[in-house]
Amino acid sequence: MAKFDFSKRDSFGSKIGIIAAAAGSAIGLGNIWRFPYVTGENGGAAFLLIYLGFIIMIGIPVMLSEFTIGRRAQRNPFGAFRLLKKGQPWYLIGLMGIAAAFFILAFYSTIAGWTLEYLYLSITDGFSGKSPEQLNSMFKKFQSDGWWPVIWQVIFMFFTAWIIYRGVRNGIEKYAKILMPVLLLIIFIICIRSVTLPGAIDGLRFLFKPDFSKINPSVILEALGQAFFSLSIGMGTLITYGSYINKRDNLSTTAISVSAADTFIAILAGVAIFPAVFAYGINPAEGEALVFITLPNIFMEMPGGYFWALLFFLLLVIAALTSTISVLEVVVAFFSEELNINRKQATIIASIAITILGVFCTLSQGPLNQPFIGENTLFEILEYTSANLFLPIGGFFIVIFVGWFMGRKNVDDEISNSGKFKLPLFNFFLVIVRIIAPIAIAMVFLYQLGILG
Ligand code: PHE
Repeated sequence: MAKFDFSKRDSFGSKIGIIAAAAGSAIGLGNIWRFPYVTGENGGAAFLLIYLGFIIMIGIPVMLSEFTIGRRAQRNPFGAFRLLKKGQPWYLIGLMGIAAAFFILAFYSTIAGWTLEYLYLSITDGFSGKSPEQLNSMFKKFQSDGWWPVIWQVIFMFFTAWIIYRGVRNGIEKYAKILMPVLLLIIFIICIRSVTLPGAIDGLRFLFKPDFSKINPSVILEALGQAFFSLSIGMGTLITYGSYINKRDNLSTTAISVSAADTFIAILAGVAIFPAVFAYGINPAEGEALVFITLPNIFMEMPGGYFWALLFFLLLVIAALTSTISVLEVVVAFFSEELNINRKQATIIASIAITILGVFCTLSQGPLNQPFIGENTLFEILEYTSANLFLPIGGFFIVIFVGWFMGRKNVDDEISNSGKFKLPLFNFFLVIVRIIAPIAIAMVFLYQLGILG
């Protein structure tokens, strides 16, 4: 079989393009749909504090480690581990990442499809005049309808595939540079509206005033899982994006900027959503329906609701799209480089395969709504296990690899661009990736299993 020609690999064109693309991957439904409801279910501010601790202590080092592996090897995650550590089974971590990409995109595209339906409803003024009960049953009916959610999911996957089909620079980077500023602008406008609602202060208190009695092992695992999911780390998305970063660019400042942007947007999403939730007397622990039932309700009570609903669902669609492309890219890079299928065909094959799994996921919310494992549907299993198991386990091995196996010289050389800029805290970074991050991740797991604590 002919080999992939690595000298013809695509790459990002500018530093701002890299940041837009990586922040586009990180900022997604994880920030705007998942963060508020997981925070709501896990007690608010206390959860937020633990989450922030994990971002700083584990998230940023894992992200920098992924960029380092990717740019060093200039390969997809599987190829990267195989190249950097020949003859050892590290490539299994890459393979696990590629499997995780399949699982994540399958359930993620279900929700991404819902966002399209809700954008469509906002454009056609589909919420106005509906009572809270009607909005509730409208969502439930749509979610469990056999075909509509599948059609929207397929349309969403088509957009995702189309951008990936166009390549790294002309697809991912170009669209991220257009869409991310729009996303920022929309979320700012919605935040201003939300905090100026009467009664908003209760929502802000819920988000910022910790009640530590709410913390237990499963809250801690949720915070860790959410940090991994939200930063897009632990499965090789950022190894893949890192492999397209130019040798001139500074990896550590990129990792810090992207993590900061992601965290900032998650907090802004909380600031946009909780004041409105409290101002209209809704339970913040509403669960995954929070943004699809609660928010249309709130919008309909606000003056100018049509406009706010439209802006919000447009925001969700954009956030989802810049993330789905990053997940698809992992699989496409793997198919095209390892199986030497040309990129365009790889895009088509990968998208079709993922969409098929995704359709089952969508149907598991409706006609195929039956327990898959235990009491949970396929959708619930994929969502929970990918965030709380696959990603932290992947992250654990990624930091161990960079800390102990990649070779200090290689790591230093890659992060400092062959000595051009020194990471002032390089030794501290090493201590984190060698010891602190792996122990912290392992402890969260043991604690959760009831072995510790
Ligand atoms: N970080 C994305 C979000 O917050 C989801 C994602 C997870 C993307 C893992 C890529 C890899 O929505």
